[in-house]
Amino acid sequence: MHNYFKDNQSLWDDWAGFHPETPFYDMAAFRAGASSLKPIEREALGDVQGKSLLHLQCHFGQDTLSWARLGAEVVGVDFSKTAIDKARALNEELGLSAEFVQANVLQLSGKLNRQFDIVFTSYGTIVWLPELETWGRVIAEHLKPGGVFYMAEFHPAMYMFDFESGRYAYSYFNEGEPYSEQATGSYAHPEEGNTRTEHTWSHSLAEIFSALLHQGLRLVDFQEYPYSPYNCFPNMEEIGLGKFQCRELRGAPHLYTVKFGKVEGLESWES
Ligand SMILES: C[S@@+](CC[C@H](N)C(=O)[O-])C[C@H]1O[C@@H](n2cnc3c(N)ncnc32)[C@H](O)[C@@H]1O
Repeated sequence: MHNYFKDNQSLWDDWAGFHPETPFYDMAAFRAGASSLKPIEREALGDVQGKSLLHLQCHFGQDTLSWARLGAEVVGVDFSKTAIDKARALNEELGLSAEFVQANVLQLSGKLNRQFDIVFTSYGTIVWLPELETWGRVIAEHLKPGGVFYMAEFHPAMYMFDFESGRYAYSYFNEGEPYSEQATGSYAHPEEGNTRTEHTWSHSLAEIFSALLHQGLRLVDFQEYPYSPYNCFPNMEEIGLGKFQCRELRGAPHLYTVKFGKVEGLESWES
């Protein structure tokens, strides 16, 4: 397992190194005050002013700092040292008071010794995790009673297909062993040219839901969308403002969101 994480960490250190320079992450707009959050998660979590928020797999901190700009007290966690260094520098530059912690999300237990109103993760996170039972425990451990876990993620049904051809290519289920592939460039900069090894895992909806239900968390909301708010996969077209669909996968679910809560005091989160 160790080598999988080592390879992935080195890939993400590289990607975090050049991502802030890419148009995809549009740092000029971000520095000028634009939020990197999408309407989907903004609307789902509502007013976060004064709420504590733990952001798992925060990359170089744009979303974490966007929540901070909305008044949340935020902690971002990521295993990439480069990503965390860049997030801390950005936090300082913007005069915000976010905290960033370098850690493997599956080894976070006992490291923060705090609980949060909100645990948040989004867009391209759990495919990097070999199993989700530990992930579910980490989430439950860091939620206050009455707190909510919210995730916006690419749909496992979409990940079954090769984006270029639309052909079935990957198991819907977690087979234990990862898909180990050579990735050239990244979603944010496909022309970057360097080739790196990546290891990813499929996670079915049942695996995801079970990991959270096994911790006694309660499902509050579940949505599916036929588009992605990011133009981050090959061969996508814009079907509406900020809505991207793979040309070969029209009608396929591209995105889902879940909201789970710790049972006591959940009423205020229900929509
Ligand atoms: C696609 S990015 C998250 C995207 C995020 N929505 C953003 O703000 O751009 C995935 C992140 O997960 C991190 N990551 C991958 N595996 C991890 C692990 N086991 N523990 C902690 N972070 C991990 C990577 O370093 C990367 O920053």
